[in-house]
Amino acid sequence: MEKISIEGGKPLFGKVEISGSKNSSLSILASCLLSDKQVSILGIPKLTDTFFFLELLSSFGVEVKGLDNFKNTKKFILNAKKITNNKAPYNLVKKMRASILVLGPLLARTGKAIVSLPGGCSIGLRPVDIHLKSLEKLGARIFIEKGYIYAEALKGLKGNKIVFPKVSVGATINVLMAAVLAKGTTEIHNAAKEPEIEDLGLFLKSMGAKIEGLGTNKILVEGVTKLEKTNYKVMLDRIEAGTYALAVAIAGGEIELVGAEKKLLTFFLNILETIGVEYFVTENSIIFKRNSNSLNSIDVTTEPYPGFPTDLQAQLMAVMAISNGTSVITENIFENRFMHAPELIRMGAKIKLKNNLAIVEGVKKLKGAEVMATDLRASVSLVLAGLAAQGKTNINRIYHIDRGYQDIVKKLQFCGANIKRITV
Ligand code: EPZ
Repeated sequence: MEKISIEGGKPLFGKVEISGSKNSSLSILASCLLSDKQVSILGIPKLTDTFFFLELLSSFGVEVKGLDNFKNTKKFILNAKKITNNKAPYNLVKKMRASILVLGPLLARTGKAIVSLPGGCSIGLRPVDIHLKSLEKLGARIFIEKGYIYAEALKGLKGNKIVFPKVSVGATINVLMAAVLAKGTTEIHNAAKEPEIEDLGLFLKSMGAKIEGLGTNKILVEGVTKLEKTNYKVMLDRIEAGTYALAVAIAGGEIELVGAEKKLLTFFLNILETIGVEYFVTENSIIFKRNSNSLNSIDVTTEPYPGFPTDLQAQLMAVMAISNGTSVITENIFENRFMHAPELIRMGAKIKLKNNLAIVEGVKKLKGAEVMATDLRASVSLVLAGLAAQGKTNINRIYHIDRGYQDIVKKLQFCGANIKRITV
């Protein structure tokens, strides 16, 4: 087992290379199943989630060049010409819920898909009812047996009008991929507008898919019979960039996020300015600097894009724990995404939870402690707290962090943080 140990109190000065987007990479990799041609993809971040996804694809018979040298591969070359298996087994899906994203493309390409129900995770039940009902509207026959989703469309899928009852990133991704090979036109209403969906759409269009309305809540897809080969570079990870900007907020100092562009973070820059972080845009980076010794408190509500993202909520809570005032954080996306709060309280934070509200009363200093990571974003909020806390913080179960933050210890060491991985 490994843990991360941090001696807090040191401001951050240096450069951080922003890696490719985890969430965009996962949906782009899933959509490789739609094509029988070779696709080359640059910018896939080196994470356990992307490694598992490439393993899952190769279990379907997809040729994955670069998987055997995953850590050093810059460009992954995939070829889904021959799909020899269309079952995503429980043992793989339980390791990575995003495996549900193979359902739509497998179904559209082969007419049959058997995918283990992903089950919940620590942040919530994570149902997939909207995915399934929408695929049925495209003509799929779906039933669930012994924890598996059986989906069939032997005569192929047929375009239709889909209206999501609520905004769902995953369901928008699954339906968009399935619609690309469906016969006729599909309209997706109340679609998610996250930039990662736009990135997926641009990847699909680079292979010849006909898609309009990307980045809006109404996406139109004209089905095609086949997709061509492509070369594509995944967008950078806006949540990773936002996390490092909040690292400067909590620890102080000045860091340059290389690769970050303003459009990647527009949703978030006004919040940074309000709490007391300045930023300067250069031609290939954004420099973040905390402009005073104290941080302002702020009330935020997590919402679908372009609102404040739920994936930055835990990180912001850590920052608000040492702000000069009281902040109210409302989590509207997931029903149980405050697992980091008890761990922050163990570090001296003053946080009260009431349903989906977290009332955070800023304190002068956090104190280092032994804490436990519970999910990806909760774990990184503990790293941020450790950077600012007095004394030593040990974070256990850091496999959560490795799912979504490439080389986080190295990147923070490079900015002067006193942080290291230790094998227990
Ligand atoms: C995606 O999850 C991301 N994961 C999440 O990132 C992100 O937090 C989330 O979108 C919201 O932005 C990937 O892209 C791999 P949703 P997803 O479907 O698709 C409910 C991270 O930390 N819902 O938009 O699962 C659901 O329970 C991860 O990188 C249904 O009720 O999110 C939730 O309350 C965590 N039925 C809400 O909708 C459904 O069929 C939004 O979920 C689907 C979802």
